[in-house]
Order: sequence, then C-alpha cells, then structure tokens
Amino acid sequence: MKINKKLFVVAALVIATTVCAAAASSKSEPEHYKNLKVLPQNISSKDLQGIMVDDFQDALGVTCDFCHAASKDGHGLDFVSDAKPEKEITRNMMRMNLDINKKYFKLNHPLIGSPALIVTCNTCHKGAAFPEGAE
Ligand code: HEC
Ligand code: HEC
Repeated sequence: MKINKKLFVVAALVIATTVCAAAASSKSEPEHYKNLKVLPQNISSKDLQGIMVDDFQDALGVTCDFCHAASKDGHGLDFVSDAKPEKEITRNMMRMNLDINKKYFKLNHPLIGSPALIVTCNTCHKGAAFPEGAE
C-alpha cells in the first residue's frame, strides 16, 4: 500500500510537470531573444529552431557549436554571445542571401527560413562549411 501511494505521488508529479511544460510552451510565443540583428525580433521559437537546424546546421554540415560559443560556466552553449566569428560571418551571409533574393529574384520581403527563398545557404554550401572551390 505504501509503495502504491508513492507511485501515485510520482505519477501525479509527472503529469503536473507535463501539463505545466505544455502550457508554458504554448504561451511562450513569441519567444524573446536577446541578440537578433537580422532575424525578426518577434520570431517564434519554432521558426528560429527551424532556421538553426534546417537552414544552417544541415546546409553547412555542422552542429550548433560551430557558431555558438560555450557558456562561461561550462554548461552547454551561450546562444546570445557573439564570441565566435562564425556567428558574425553567418549574419553577413544571411544579409547577402536576402539581398540576392530581393534584388535578382524580385522577392518582396525575403525572410531567412522561408520556403519562398530561391537562393538559400544550401545553394552554395551543399552540406559543407567551406563551399567547394572557394579556396
Ligand atoms: C552557421 C551558424 C549557426 C549555427 C550552426 C547555429 N546558429 Fe544559432 N544563431 C546564429 C546566428 C547568426 C544567430 C543570430 C541571428 C541574428 O542576429 O538575427 C543565432 C541565434 C540563435 C539563437 C538566439 C539567441 C538570442 O537570444 O539572441 C538561438 C537560441 C540559437 N541561435 C540556437 C541555435 C541552436 C539550438 C543551434 C543548433 C541546432 C544553432 N543555433 C545553430 C548562427 C548559427
Ligand atoms: C552565393 C553563395 C553562398 C551563399 C548563398 C551562402 N554562402 Fe556562406 N560562404 C560562401 C563562400 C564562397 C564562403 C567562403 C568564404 C571565404 O572564402 O572566406 C562561405 C563561408 C561561410 C562561412 C564561414 C565558413 C568557415 O569555415 O569559416 C559560414 C559560417 C557561412 N558561409 C554560412 C552561411 C550561411 C548560414 C548561409 C545562409 C544564410 C550562407 N553561408 C550562404 C558562399 C555562400
């Protein structure tokens, strides 16, 4: 009986945290990012994740730490920090991408991560951080 009671408490806690997490995630849009210079300030966390994973990570064949510096406390990455030069290079690449799509493909308001983009990171990078033939 005692064990059952304990199990019940644990189960109730698990359910409570799951419900809280779900409520928090549906309410947290738009997320407030601290250091966006190219992407829209009110971008949703879903859209930002999509860009980081599909447009950046996959197109360059790298992981988050290629652009994002390690946290000072040694736990994970500090996504806000601009300590790694790759992050600033990426911002320039983003601006270049948007300009190309606007000027030469006449897209009105190109947005990084939009499926409407004709030239994307992958157009040149094709899964490599350093594009073939750029040396
Ligand atoms: C190729 C470089 C690159 C890679 C790889 C990358 N990021 Fe980013 N990330 C950036 C840049 C550049 C910005 C800032 C964009 C801007 O200024 O609008 C950014 C911004 C962010 C932010 C917003 C931080 C803030 O509050 O300002 C988060 C969160 C983030 N990235 C998470 C990730 C995650 C998670 C991954 C791995 C899945 C990842 N990034 C991979 C370049 C990268
Ligand atoms: C028109 C072609 C083109 C497009 C589009 C493009 N890049 Fe690049 N990128 C290059 C070239 C070429 C280089 C190598 C530059 C050099 O020689 O310094 C480069 C270099 C980089 C680097 C530095 C790599 C290193 O090893 O230091 C990063 C990071 C990068 N690009 C990210 C991106 C991201 C993210 C996008 C999409 C927003 C993008 N690029 C779109 C052509 C492109």
